[in-house]
Amino acid sequence: MRVGVPREIKPDEYRVGLTPAAVREYVAHGHEVLVEQGAGGGAGYGDEAYVRAGAKIVPDADAVFSGAEMIVKVKEPQAVEWARLTDKHILFTYLHLAPDPAQTEGLLASGCAAIAYETVTDDNGGLPLLAPMSEVAGRIAVFSAGETLLKHNGGMGLLISGVPGVPPARVCILGGGVVGANAAVMAAGLGAEVVIMERSIPRMRYIDDIFAGRVITRYSTYDSVEEEILKADVVIGAVLTPGAAAPKLVRREHLSKMKPGAVLVDVSIDQGGCFETSKPTTHKNPTYTVDGVVHYCVANMPGAAPAHLVRSPGPRHAAVRTEAGGQGFGRAEDQQASRQGPERAEGRDHPPGGRRGAEQAVQGRLRRLGLKASARSNDEGAGPEGRRLFLCSPLRNNPATIAPTLAVKRQREDAPCATRTSIRGPSRSRAGRSGWAPSASPPSR
Ligand SMILES: NC(=O)c1ccc[n+]([C@@H]2O[C@H](COP(=O)([O-])OP(=O)(O)OC[C@H]3O[C@@H](n4cnc5c(N)ncnc54)[C@H](O)[C@@H]3O)[C@@H](O)[C@H]2O)c1
Repeated sequence: MRVGVPREIKPDEYRVGLTPAAVREYVAHGHEVLVEQGAGGGAGYGDEAYVRAGAKIVPDADAVFSGAEMIVKVKEPQAVEWARLTDKHILFTYLHLAPDPAQTEGLLASGCAAIAYETVTDDNGGLPLLAPMSEVAGRIAVFSAGETLLKHNGGMGLLISGVPGVPPARVCILGGGVVGANAAVMAAGLGAEVVIMERSIPRMRYIDDIFAGRVITRYSTYDSVEEEILKADVVIGAVLTPGAAAPKLVRREHLSKMKPGAVLVDVSIDQGGCFETSKPTTHKNPTYTVDGVVHYCVANMPGAAPAHLVRSPGPRHAAVRTEAGGQGFGRAEDQQASRQGPERAEGRDHPPGGRRGAEQAVQGRLRRLGLKASARSNDEGAGPEGRRLFLCSPLRNNPATIAPTLAVKRQREDAPCATRTSIRGPSRSRAGRSGWAPSASPPSR
């Protein structure tokens, strides 16, 4: 398999799809890796590090896309990249298609098989490939909010921590998942008053346990959210309905009733945002003000911390990419497996049985790594011109979720459609999915 790593072109994005260490793993498994010149520069990896790892450096993105069968990125492909994708490509990256029908159409038109990191689940329904980014974004959210609260940045001029004799800021976090819990760690650590609004009772119990009463949890309803945001100096939006657009919990009419100079940080902006007035911003121009309330809506917050991030998600991402890649990928391993005996040979490429056989091939390869894939097509999800969208299982029976397609694939009888990939890992419930929490086993949702 030829794996391609283009340079990220989204504004202020400094991460890179593969580190030199990951490249070395691919090369050791018999694959070729093409890296665009300068692709790792923003994350601190020069071309020479990739060459030492066994990659071939190519001059531009066209050379990566035309030379590789599998493209590994970080951020969603931009319009110029849709045009470079074809039906020979498998794309692994964060996609966030729910608020982005243009990208969904662009990917459909390309015919590529696209697998969104943020939809990969583990056995407990957790999102192990989203979590490393959410941990970072949750933490960045608080120090960005603290900075934005200062007067010269448009905020009310409040110190988030307070000082002796002056109360700290009140931080309301909407959604107590990975982003929310990590934001709470930072905000509580700085001394802020923190309230987390959640809908999952087990998650609230878990947060209550680990913060030992240091943060308040509150069931999220229209009433309770309204009450809390009007009291807040900072609101951090961190809700997620996997695969769907974020619910709009703060509406335009709320803004004029909020404290002037309050700060809204919409981390959920990549799923369309959970504030009605949110629109994506960049690290260079992160904020704007509506009705006296400052909005911070950077869609790639972790992009500012590439040196940290390139080290964190590695093995899981690589394993999923390597084994869920689909037809053709893993060929070297499969050939080797064939030589080692029949049970190791299960799932080799080009099995009989068309798409079903190809799906079994993907699953066979995953099983050998202790992973699991369940790939399903969605009969209700037929796209225009006979193209078909392949949705992940919880969404597959709901035609309204076609826009938030989790993986996009032109229907071909002989093509695999690894649209939802599960990782079988150490038993960790969704309540404790980020792994940052103390060792006590969290309850399931
Ligand atoms: N902007 C960025 O750079 C960036 C980076 C990482 C993650 N994100 C986004 O942040 C969001 C949160 O990610 P996560 O990993 O924390 O997800 P998560 O699934 O761990 O947590 C989401 C939480 O929201 C809760 N929730 C859902 N609806 C709710 C409601 N109406 N009221 C209150 N709580 C509700 C869920 O119960 C869940 O606990 C996602 O949209 C993700 O894509 C953005």
